[in-house]
Amino acid sequence: MHSAETSAPRPRRFRAAGPLTGRIRVPGDKSISHRSIMLGALAVGRTRVTGLLEGEDVMSTAAAMRAMGATIERQPDGANGTEWVIDGVGVGSLLQPKTALDMGNSGTSTRLLMGLVASHPITATFIGDASLSKRPMGRVIEPLSQMGADFTAAPGGRLPLTLRGIAPAVPIAYRLPVASAQVKSAVLLAGLNTPGITTVIEPIPTRDHSERMLRGFGADLTVEVAADGTRTIRLTGEADLKPQTIVVPGDPSSAAFFVVAALIVPGSDLRIENVGLNPTRAALFDVLRAMGGQIEELDRREVGGEPVADLRVRHSALTGIAVDPAVVPSMVDEFPVLFVAAALASGRTVTTGLEELRVKESDRISVMRAALELAGASVTETEDGLIIDGTGGDPLPGTPDGTTVATHLDHRIAMSMAVAGLASRAGVEVDDTRPIATSFPVFESLLSQATGE
Ligand code: S3P
Repeated sequence: MHSAETSAPRPRRFRAAGPLTGRIRVPGDKSISHRSIMLGALAVGRTRVTGLLEGEDVMSTAAAMRAMGATIERQPDGANGTEWVIDGVGVGSLLQPKTALDMGNSGTSTRLLMGLVASHPITATFIGDASLSKRPMGRVIEPLSQMGADFTAAPGGRLPLTLRGIAPAVPIAYRLPVASAQVKSAVLLAGLNTPGITTVIEPIPTRDHSERMLRGFGADLTVEVAADGTRTIRLTGEADLKPQTIVVPGDPSSAAFFVVAALIVPGSDLRIENVGLNPTRAALFDVLRAMGGQIEELDRREVGGEPVADLRVRHSALTGIAVDPAVVPSMVDEFPVLFVAAALASGRTVTTGLEELRVKESDRISVMRAALELAGASVTETEDGLIIDGTGGDPLPGTPDGTTVATHLDHRIAMSMAVAGLASRAGVEVDDTRPIATSFPVFESLLSQATGE
């Protein structure tokens, strides 16, 4: 069971504190952590992972892979600090889980694991929390059905859902109707145990961690990029995956909260170490720079096949902009905290093309509109984005006594509004901090460290 289902809500008022200074290190990338456990569990032999994000979402993936036969252990005193050791079962050898797979709050676990199960001759039931049970799974049911898998889902293609996999599955060529790395990855992972070539055509590029890691594990995967940017990804099935040693870089989506906090709190000068800067993830930092944010990249290097740098972030006068919708897939999880930066900027910020935000852990367009309004910001909701008129650097009023921001079991709403609280007069009260543990369990302690509280 997950903490947000078993304990009482934990409200907290986040108040203005000191400037953010010193050095912090954010935990491992969530997307890469999920994939390292899944592929490690499918390789034959022992995979070692350091820097793994030990958040609830990744633990849901680990529990599911254990239920399907892999051995996954945490070793706190490995040669390089805490190491996760995974003994895989081999592609094609996943076992039938004995009980339902509890995905908690995690859409990534659900959609990627559905891909894996689809091409194995096993049946699995997926369940999740109230937030996950509202999210659409039709987007993966459709291509996986074309491959031969069979589904019984709750109305609207939602959890709880039972998937009957098939082997051999049918290789397909699938053009993504939505820009979603989860859908792309589900089809590619199903392709691993499918004879022949599985093809995914991606008109708008999304995060490419699956492609990078599948290649790293020895899969035969090619990517062809057309003149218009369309990517055609071909994976040869019945793959033999070779165990790997993986170092997970820091999560840019977690660093994002501290980057914005340092930009909006006067006097801040913060160094955030080991931030993954894969170009399919890092657009937030470019957008903030275009708004006037001072974000310097130091010691650019490669970690685990991904570009990484330390970021030095200083308090900056931000100016509102119109955000180009073309960058949305490369910062899809960062809009809630960008909205907070916009609320403190001078002038107007306009965002468009954000339809996908409505089907994340919450409807992040309307939930952030309500949250920022409660904190005293000037916000207009449109069909596909928000228009925000910033304070010009003055603190937000904050949430009135007796009112709380509704986070709807969404970790990124809770953390974004915590950041807003740091630049407010009365503080910002969020109704529940428990969901933060899904992706960033040490968020509150790092915040105290950086603000010297
Ligand atoms: C993820 C892809 C994104 C993102 C999610 C993680 C992944 O979802 O929002 O947090 O690891 O593939 P979509 O692919 O549905 O946009």
